[in-house]
Amino acid sequence: MEEKVISRDQGYNVGIPQNYKKHSPIIQQAVRVDVEKLDSLLDLVGELVITEAMVSHNPDLQGLQFDRLEKSMLQLSKITREIQDMAMSMRMIPLAGTFQKMTRLVRDLSLKVNKRIRLEIAGEETEVDKTIIEQISDPLVHLIRNAADHGIETPEQRIAAGKPETGHILVEARHSAGEVLITVRDDGRWLNRQKILQKAGELGLLRDENRELKDEEVWNLILEPGFSTAEKVSSISGRGVGMDVVKSQIEKLRGRIDIRSTPGQGTLFSIRDGASGDGSCLPGEGKQEPSPLASWQG
Ligand SMILES: Nc1ncnc2c1ncn2[C@@H]1O[C@H](COP(=O)(O)OP(=O)(O)OP(=O)(O)O)[C@@H](O)[C@H]1O
Ligand SMILES: [Mg+2]
Repeated sequence: MEEKVISRDQGYNVGIPQNYKKHSPIIQQAVRVDVEKLDSLLDLVGELVITEAMVSHNPDLQGLQFDRLEKSMLQLSKITREIQDMAMSMRMIPLAGTFQKMTRLVRDLSLKVNKRIRLEIAGEETEVDKTIIEQISDPLVHLIRNAADHGIETPEQRIAAGKPETGHILVEARHSAGEVLITVRDDGRWLNRQKILQKAGELGLLRDENRELKDEEVWNLILEPGFSTAEKVSSISGRGVGMDVVKSQIEKLRGRIDIRSTPGQGTLFSIRDGASGDGSCLPGEGKQEPSPLASWQG
């Protein structure tokens, strides 16, 4: 049975005096709640929101002037919204646990690939929906493996390029314009445009070989299933499924992935939710529920 710990520090402070936190900074009270119960509560709250809208926009009430009823309806709709926000926030969990697991991964990887790598984590307190916590780990592992194997150079190569001997991977989360933004950045070599194009040609991925592709279009080729520039398959790379997994997991969360790469400065992968600030959707998806990546409380 899955359970989630809700702590008062995560904002579940109904009935707690305003100055509670100020005077009791160390006390953290939590209740374990069965996730199924939490989800049933969310379903019920969803129905409450719909019913409240049906009542307040009921055609039978149109044109009637009942001041006291109108006041009560406004109050009802305000409380309904607050209940909805509160119920959603109960599914929110900080990314800290997920990010911390990456520390061990990088330690193991740096031994395997024989490189010096420092992992920096930022924004681990960022809270995201439980669904994201469950599904973001795999994509992060793939991006970090790639950064360590393909991105970061050997200490000798880095010194020759005038870079610090130790490579740097930064995993960061933050809220940006109503979206959750999770980035993995390395300060290694950039994505190899020429190698990627050559490989894409061999795999028949280029429809028009004479057309000059923009960088962005070239980077997106690495998301194709089976795409790898690795010369041999190792325990870390070479199967060409890594970025494919990243893409499909992010799409499951109705999010999107952007790739930026700069010569000599490394690569940045950013994952964000599909709905843009104006609430529009990913092309072809039509109207839909907000993506779990968007349902953060900020
Ligand atoms: N951080 C990075 N820096 C430089 N190149 C990268 C980076 N991440 C990915 N790449 C390029 O993208 C390609 C595709 O990555 P992907 O993870 O799909 O395959 P892979 O790492 O070669 O094999 P595997 O599927 O076993 O992980 C890599 O072969 C590499 O050329
Ligand atoms: Mg890979």
